[in-house]
This record gives sequence, C-alpha cells and structure tokens, in this order.
Amino acid sequence: MKVRIAAPEAPPIPAARPPSGAAQSAGQTVTPWLMVVLAVILFSGGLFGYDQGVISGALHGIKATFSLSALLVEVVTSWVTLGALFGALAGGELADRIGRKSTVLIAGAMFTGGALVQALAPDTVILVAGRLIVGGGVGVAAVAAPLYAAELAPTTLRGRFVSAYQLAITAGIFLAYLVDGWLSQGDAWRWMLGASAVPGLLLFAVALLAPESPRWLMKVGWRSEAAAQLQKIRPGVDFKPRLDAVAASLRREAGRASWAEVFHKEWRRPLLIGVGLAVFQQVTGINAIIYYADQIFASAGFTSQSSQTMVTTWAVGGVNMLATLIAIAFIDRLGRRKLLLAGLLGMGLSLCVVGIAFRFISTVPAGVAAAGPSGAGIVTLLALVAFIICFAFSMGPVVWTVINEIFPGHIRGRAVAVATAANWGSAFLVSQGFLSLIGVIGNSFTFWLFALFCGAGWVWIYRAVPETKGRSLEQIQDLWNGRGL
Ligand code: BGC
Repeated sequence: MKVRIAAPEAPPIPAARPPSGAAQSAGQTVTPWLMVVLAVILFSGGLFGYDQGVISGALHGIKATFSLSALLVEVVTSWVTLGALFGALAGGELADRIGRKSTVLIAGAMFTGGALVQALAPDTVILVAGRLIVGGGVGVAAVAAPLYAAELAPTTLRGRFVSAYQLAITAGIFLAYLVDGWLSQGDAWRWMLGASAVPGLLLFAVALLAPESPRWLMKVGWRSEAAAQLQKIRPGVDFKPRLDAVAASLRREAGRASWAEVFHKEWRRPLLIGVGLAVFQQVTGINAIIYYADQIFASAGFTSQSSQTMVTTWAVGGVNMLATLIAIAFIDRLGRRKLLLAGLLGMGLSLCVVGIAFRFISTVPAGVAAAGPSGAGIVTLLALVAFIICFAFSMGPVVWTVINEIFPGHIRGRAVAVATAANWGSAFLVSQGFLSLIGVIGNSFTFWLFALFCGAGWVWIYRAVPETKGRSLEQIQDLWNGRGL
C-alpha cells in the first residue's frame, strides 16, 4: 500500500535513517524506544477505558455489600468522572512543571493506589475515596499520555500514535465489559475494581524506563539532555535542526507558562478549537450509549439480561475497538478533517434513525416487546452499531489527536488540561442528564437532540478546524499567527 508521507503545504522533517532490523511504518522508523513510548500510551488509555467501563458490572455487588442508597449509587458511579475533571487540571500543571514522564508516573501510582483502596474498602467512604483517586489518575493520564505521544511521535506518525491511545481506551472498555460478564457474583466487584492495580503498576514501570519529551526538556532549558533523549528515541536523525526549530518556536512564544497565558487572546483560536472539539465529542452522545447501553437495548426489546450484556459487549465494546483501527490506518493519510466530517455525518444520520426507530418501539405493546426485539429494535441496534463505528474512526481518536497537537509548546500542558477538563465536564453532564432527559422529552427526541449536535459540530468543524496532518508541532503553531496559512 502506498503511503503519502507529508502534505504538500508542509515539507516533512527529515526521516530517521532506518537502522537494520527496525520496524518500518509510513516511511518513518519505529525504534525500540518509540515502542516504550507506545507502551506508556497503551497502558494509560487501557486504564482510562477499563476504569470507566467496569463500574456498570460492579455496581450490583457493591449495592449488595454496602446497602447503598440511590444517591450513593450515583456518587460511587460518577465520582470517577469528577476525580478525572480535577485530575486533568492538575495533570496539565504537573506536565508543564515536572515534565510529561514524571506526570505519567504519578498517574500510574494513582491508578495502582486507587485500585487497591477500592478493592479493600471496608465501607462506602473509603470506596468513594478510592474512586476519586482512580478518577484523579484517569484525568492526569488523559492529559499526560496523549501529550507525551504527540510530542514524541515522528510527524507523519503522530495521528497514529495518539489514535493508539484511543484504541487502548476502547480495548479497556471492552475488557471491562468482558470482566463484568465473567465475574458477576457476590464480592467479585472487589476483583473487578482491584484488577486495574496490575496494569497501573506496569504503567509505572514502563514510565520509569521511558524517555522524557525532548520538547519539554527544551522548554525548561535542558538542551543537551533534550539532544541525548532525541538521539536515543530517533537514532540517526540529525537532531540539531530539530532542536533549533523547537528553540525558535519557543523563542517566538517567549511568554512564561501561566494560566493567564493559556487564556491570552493570541491563543484564543486553538483554545476554542480544543475546547469545542472536546465538548462536541461528548454532547453528540457517545457516553450516554457507553454507560447506558444495557438500558437502551432493554427499551429496544432486548429483554433478557444475557441478551443485553451480549449486545453491549460485542455491538458496543467490540465494534468500538475494531472500528478505531480504521482511524489508525487513515488519520495520517486522509487527514483529521475528512475523518471528523465523515464521522459526524454518519453519527448524525444513525442517531436520526435511532430516534425514528424508537417512535415505533414505543407503540409496541409491552407483551409483544417481551417476546424479543421487534424489527424496530433490530434497526435501533444496527443504527447504534453504525453510530459507534462512525465515532470510533472520527470523534474518538481524531479529537484527542487534534487537541494534543494544536497548542504552542509553552502552554501545551495547561491548555490540553483545559480541553480535557471540558471533555470530562461535558461527559459528567451528559451521563448525569441522559436518563432524566429521556424522562422529560422521550427516547426519540433525546437521540434527535444528539443528532442536532452532530449537525452543529459538522458545520463548526468545517468552518473552524484547519488540517494539521503532515505538519510538525512547530509548523502547526504558524497556523495561529498567519505564517502557515
Ligand atoms: C472519549 C470517552 C469515550 C470513549 C469511547 C473517548 O475518546 O473521550 O469519553 O468513552 O472515547 O470509546
């Protein structure tokens, strides 16, 4: 298969000379050190997905052990998201101050500690504390890992590297669904929640080994250390012009990394793009489906628990993971915009179909629905599968990729944190509000509302989000000051 390495408007930075035995991909060398970087991304994303997906299956056992009130059930479920929101903000500050690698180390420690606290919790208060710690780890990792990936990946593989993070999230969610299915009785919830201590520890271990980001080292003024890391990651590459380009771009930025600088009007455009993409990723409904898939399928006529678990695991979890591979294959070839626009179109159309199908489902008498999914129920299932596929090759991976490549180096950590916190804030609102919204306006209008957001997102992306494929991080910054247009 022929692969175009760079967009015509942005000449590629010279590729590494391939040392013998190294894997080749898209004209760039993937060295063993880049594999370590990849491992950091995969563990971080996997833990993000697992900790997000596992709670649905664990809740039943937790309720039985601690006799939780309805309010506490909500707290146990949603405080991971709250922890993630604060973790993301702290993660940005940490990533800029102590470096990308050390921040990932902290995330690994939080994943491990939080998992153990949850697994051993003697009462609800400690359990909730464990949920918050894990949530904090999810937030910190959600900022640090893709940022790290974007800064260390070769330009022409950057989209793939950050998409590998999304692939790991989806694998984590899928695995959580499977584990929930296997361990469904009694105190097994302790194993479900505690299991993530192992990958948490592994993340810590690979992060210890991993190189620090040369771009961050340059930002804090350690050029010789940056050169050493760059040579290690990309042996054979002439590192001097690369570091000169980073230094020039840091000089142009000239400002100190501060929160005020993040909100400075010079960077308003990338900030709006980052936050806008983060919010549209959530308000188009993905987590309403990820969290409440069982209930949606129950209303669509999949009445037995086993049929709901099966369609949720495979039609949502499995399909989400597999379809992310489409993004990995195409993001650095077709570009970000094409995937985003095609995906949103498909998501919007599928949601319209789900809304129409629910008009028919609601008119089916209860007795008939109990006999199994009706034709409209099957249409709902197929349309949701189409929605998941379209999300998985577009708004899932591409949003994280773009968020992590558009900001100037000196504020990247904090700016990514703002966008990530906006993502978790919107995820929290959608997951909290979804069932109530259905109660007020019904299934059909709720899905049509998500479809409307897809339409609005499509128009906004078409007008506001530039193509970043094939440009180095430094060249992307020129887009905001007119030099690259
Ligand atoms: C989103 C998550 C979502 C996941 C589903 C991620 O990109 O940020 O909120 O649950 O995709 O695959």
